[in-house]
Amino acid sequence: MNWRWGRLLFSTCVFAASLQWLTACTVDDGSDSNASKLTWDNWTAVALTPFRSENQKSFENVMRTFTSEELARALKIVAQTLVSRDPTANELAQAAKGVDAYKEVIESYFATPSFQTTHLNYYRAFFEMAGTANGIDYDEPANLAVYIAVNDLPFTEILRATYCVKNENGELKKKPCSSFNNNESLAQSQGAGVVTTQAFLQKWSSSFNFRRVSKAFKFFACSEYPDPTDPGMTEKEISDSVKNFSCTDCEPACYSCHRTLNPRATLFYVFDRSGKYNPAIADASQAQDPNVANLTDTNTVSFRRDLIKENVQIRYHGRPVKSVKEYAYWLSENKSFRDCFAQRMVNLLLGRGPYEPMPPEFQNVRDDVKANGFSTQKVLLQIATHPAFVRGMEAK
Ligand code: HEC
Repeated sequence: MNWRWGRLLFSTCVFAASLQWLTACTVDDGSDSNASKLTWDNWTAVALTPFRSENQKSFENVMRTFTSEELARALKIVAQTLVSRDPTANELAQAAKGVDAYKEVIESYFATPSFQTTHLNYYRAFFEMAGTANGIDYDEPANLAVYIAVNDLPFTEILRATYCVKNENGELKKKPCSSFNNNESLAQSQGAGVVTTQAFLQKWSSSFNFRRVSKAFKFFACSEYPDPTDPGMTEKEISDSVKNFSCTDCEPACYSCHRTLNPRATLFYVFDRSGKYNPAIADASQAQDPNVANLTDTNTVSFRRDLIKENVQIRYHGRPVKSVKEYAYWLSENKSFRDCFAQRMVNLLLGRGPYEPMPPEFQNVRDDVKANGFSTQKVLLQIATHPAFVRGMEAK
């Protein structure tokens, strides 16, 4: 697919707007929950009111002037991406009537079994797991993501759900989670969506729990460590009983990544290697079974205190967190989570890999994720009607 970035009438406005946003972005500590922060909305409200409404107007005008050919061509790409088929003759005729009719065709896709299957395959690839093995349902993470999209729930649910989702003959149903031995009150107090499914916990169990943490960061912040937005723990708080995790003058500087990896990893110590909730294994005071407990890189039993010194309060972005559930909640409130979601949805419709950088033309999609209630359907619709999407593509 080729992109003609320079073609849009309003590209200068969008470019200027994204520069403003970047300026605002640099003073943000990463938290997306604090309304007093300088955000796109209040920034423009203060400084750019006339500019923004002009920009908004020209945006809508551009949408009104899409030609039938442009809408038909765009619909072909949307249909292939969302329902894995070409649009029918009827759908093409409908979409050619104008942007509202085009939107209605796309809306009708969300309720179809084809959307569910296509989206499921996207998330199976994304979470790098599928199918059932050894009693573990590796579709749990993808099922939850699709359940959220089909039922039009906010995507933040992916890190907040206290239930799991099973696929029963094509129907997605809420079920208790095997990670909590189907104990629903335990899931209520400890459940955190994908990251507390047995599939995620078992598949990504590894020495010191670092892989569980780095996968959560990759999937939900679209990023690899280090996490430069979080100061993490001080060198003195990081434990060096097993490894020199707090080392700043070694190569590579372990502390730069492990100051945030270690505290987050300690939270996962209440889940054993098979992905089950089992708080007895977290501390050395309890009996330890090396077949169950988490291990070090030399295969000896590892404990929380191997990562963080004892009696230290775990912090995420300076805020105390006591469980994976609390950590996952604040991750879902973080700006990186919002940006990652928008980036992936834009890349999905553009036919690009999930972690490719988002083209700057789609800045407003990112800014509007919250206003769109983190709705997969609304975000995809916004991208599908974006002038840079409808106009920005060559015919396939
Ligand atoms: C760029 C970030 C980064 C730096 C710097 C870094 N680590 Fe890590 N480390 C990671 C991540 C991410 C993982 C988890 C990898 C995975 O399993 O997915 C990890 C895993 C580990 C593990 C467990 C996996 C294993 O068996 O090796 C140990 C032990 C470890 N790191 C020690 C260190 C030490 C000691 C240093 C400094 C010499 C260091 N790391 C520097 C990011 C980093």
